[in-house]
Amino acid sequence: MNMKISYARGILKNRTSSKLFVHSLGVEETALRLATVYGFDKKKAALAGLLHDYGKIFPKNVLYRFALKYNIVDDLALQEPALLHAPVGAWLLEHELGIVDQEILEAVRRHTTGFPTMIPLAKIVYLADYIEPGRNCPGVQDLREIAFSNLDRALFYAVSRTMSYVLERKKILHPFSVFFRNSLILSLRKNNRELENDEGY
Ligand SMILES: [Fe+2]
Ligand SMILES: [Fe+2]
Repeated sequence: MNMKISYARGILKNRTSSKLFVHSLGVEETALRLATVYGFDKKKAALAGLLHDYGKIFPKNVLYRFALKYNIVDDLALQEPALLHAPVGAWLLEHELGIVDQEILEAVRRHTTGFPTMIPLAKIVYLADYIEPGRNCPGVQDLREIAFSNLDRALFYAVSRTMSYVLERKKILHPFSVFFRNSLILSLRKNNRELENDEGY
């Protein structure tokens, strides 16, 4: 790890809206709590949570230009502005802020679509983004409880609801999300044989 959390907070405070800054602090705090419960690196989780939306500092046309110039995303993500800030944000954290920790970069890169083989830090940031205290989408309170007892189960609900949201709004559903959800189902089936029917994840 190569950046102090207080320094990263200062960067965000100066460069983001107060709404995004408060959201980032909420994800930092939630990622730290999840890392504590599940025994993962707390400092890394806090920093990755804090910086996960770094890409949102930049206008969408700037993200698009970076994505195109440096070949950061696939063709599908290039067509959907909402899919740019995570992978381009990770690239900017590396090349603009000098973050070299590959796990932090991976967690930031995957926090919108998920990924079939998510490292634990990426899972924590994905979930923290969904349940941080500022979120009030339907069912989030239940999910906050599940999150601290069964990480994959909470992730399954989070990615399923995110996919429903994307489908309802006729936006592009990135295949990474489908692969991620399938990988969670397989993991839950393996760990909970009694849940092998289609209910109870
Ligand atoms: Fe985001
Ligand atoms: Fe976020």
